[in-house]
Amino acid sequence: MSSESTSLPFESKYWPSKRYSDVYSRSLEDMENFWDEEARKLEWFRCWDKVLDGEPPFSRWFVGGQLNASYQCVDFHDKTWRRNKVALYWEGEPGDSNTLSYSDLYRETNKFASVLRNLGIRKGDRVALYLPMIPELPIFMLACARLGAPHTVIFSGFSARALADRVKETEAKVLITSNGAFRRGKVLRLKDTVDEALTECPSVESVIVVKRTDLEVNCKEGRDYWLKDLLKDAEPYVKPEPVESTHPIYILYTSGTTGKPKGIVHSTGGYIVYNHSVFKWVFDIREDTVYWCTADVGWVTGHSNIVYAPLSHGATLVVYEGAPDYPSIDRWWQIIDKFRVTAFYTSPTAIRMFMRYGEEGPKRHDLSSLKILGTVGEPINPEAWIWYYKNIGKSRCPIVDTWWQTETGGIMISPLPGLDMVPLKPGSVTFPLPGIDAEVVKDNGEPTSPGERGYLIIRRPWPGMLMTIYKDPERYKQTYWSKFPSMYFTSDYAIKDQEGYFWILGRADEVLKIAGHRLGAAELESAAVAHPGIAEAAVIGKPDPIKGEIITIFAIPRQNYEPSEKFVEELKEHIRKVIGPIATPEEIYFVTSLPKTRSGKIMRRVLKAVATGSSIGDLSTLEDEASVEEVKRAYEELKKMAKS
Ligand code: WTA
Repeated sequence: MSSESTSLPFESKYWPSKRYSDVYSRSLEDMENFWDEEARKLEWFRCWDKVLDGEPPFSRWFVGGQLNASYQCVDFHDKTWRRNKVALYWEGEPGDSNTLSYSDLYRETNKFASVLRNLGIRKGDRVALYLPMIPELPIFMLACARLGAPHTVIFSGFSARALADRVKETEAKVLITSNGAFRRGKVLRLKDTVDEALTECPSVESVIVVKRTDLEVNCKEGRDYWLKDLLKDAEPYVKPEPVESTHPIYILYTSGTTGKPKGIVHSTGGYIVYNHSVFKWVFDIREDTVYWCTADVGWVTGHSNIVYAPLSHGATLVVYEGAPDYPSIDRWWQIIDKFRVTAFYTSPTAIRMFMRYGEEGPKRHDLSSLKILGTVGEPINPEAWIWYYKNIGKSRCPIVDTWWQTETGGIMISPLPGLDMVPLKPGSVTFPLPGIDAEVVKDNGEPTSPGERGYLIIRRPWPGMLMTIYKDPERYKQTYWSKFPSMYFTSDYAIKDQEGYFWILGRADEVLKIAGHRLGAAELESAAVAHPGIAEAAVIGKPDPIKGEIITIFAIPRQNYEPSEKFVEELKEHIRKVIGPIATPEEIYFVTSLPKTRSGKIMRRVLKAVATGSSIGDLSTLEDEASVEEVKRAYEELKKMAKS
């Protein structure tokens, strides 16, 4: 970690930057008025009575206000000259493409909303989406929002099991999928996965199938419909349903410390206001911005930064369907060149992958349209930051390293070229956004000293905050608001340096970040023990130079199951099947025992030390109840196994 700032041409002359400091202090001194002004930038059907109501964890934003997210993202622009502006440049993996103007988006959103309404969807009903990165995905999300029907998007790389669990909990009435998806030239059979999942989801009355490939699929009479057939009866206009500010806009599942993923519920008003504001500050959105976020819409980054924030501004988006390096390693740079992308937002894992491929790829294309580069999802190492800055931004573009979470709804800590630039330090997310009272604290809740590691917390509610965990308000309270009374606990470790810059160190809980994807150790462990040959399993994230972390499993086989290469492959395949390809373990060690505390808790820290070859430290201080001898024995055994 370097606390030196690099000498960058866009450095502010003032430090700390004057404008940022002024706006930031005012936002906290007069928080409600600050957000009141921000909320007025959107079009509401009814103004709120109160900016903020209730106490955290159950704070409510813009109470009494009514709006509609699809109206804000579509109708609002269709009423202006922007109706002829490009909303979406879409690029398919095989090389096909499509361009939608804001008036096209308006027309399609209305028709899709009519399709959903004809299938009985009304305000409050849940709709599940399991789709690849095709234009129908954002359009269906907007169509749901138009009806006030919360959507739940399930990343199309999840397995039938993972899909079924999410659909079952939300009791979605309609599920939308495609007959297939392109990935690296192969065609994935999404509809088959849906058919398998739906054997356990009685709530689903209808399935809409978008035709994306030539794959033949099963069609269940009376349940499955091709989208194109349903569109024949669609009305051209569906009135946007005015919803209360606190009406849920969506439920998005994410991993936590238990085996069961959490359905994060976001409000309509607070979420849209927050994302509209931060998008301007972080990406300096202007009328001629061409914005490309490479995330999948199935994650929160895509929800906020592909769909709701950019469209609420009437920005021009690029959406790309396929893999970053397919069919050649310069595919992304070719797309930036083709669409003259000005703002580009991606993950540290992708940057590290391209770094390994070398400078040739980006050199082949004209990247001079770029003005701002961003990263998200995991810490970026200074080396990757500098490579990105030099080779993609050509030492001209600021990098916005944005820290946030599914739960926070939008970006919380980041440089702000759209407000005021502060000197950048590669690897630091710099300072909190206006209205965000972030701090790094010790176990007792007191702020840490400069350079000291602590927990990242947020001291006050903000409009983008989650409202609850779906069907589990108690877990919501416990997970986020009880470690430190009336502070939001992020579960991340961080440091504030001498100059007040924030550095994010990674998760303080048992959550892994594999290539930026969030997976719970407990979730992976329960997938492993679901295999008949596995008695017990412990999962850790082992540091990896490209993916940030990789999945490493220590597993105890049952009697009659011999550790072997074949068994390793079988277990990998099993976990892919239970969760999905993103959860493929890279290393599996078979062991005869696992280090545990007396109360039976697996000591993953010891396993991590074994896997990384680092010192396990003083065991007596690790866990009070631990039997030190037992742990040491297990450790030696594991070390032997790991070496062999
Ligand atoms: C991590 C993704 C370092 C962090 C939007 C957080 C980051 C988790 C950064 C949330 C960043 C996100 N630097 N770490 N710029 N951004 N993280 O819910 O550990 O998929 O808690 O949301 O990603 O992951 P999630």
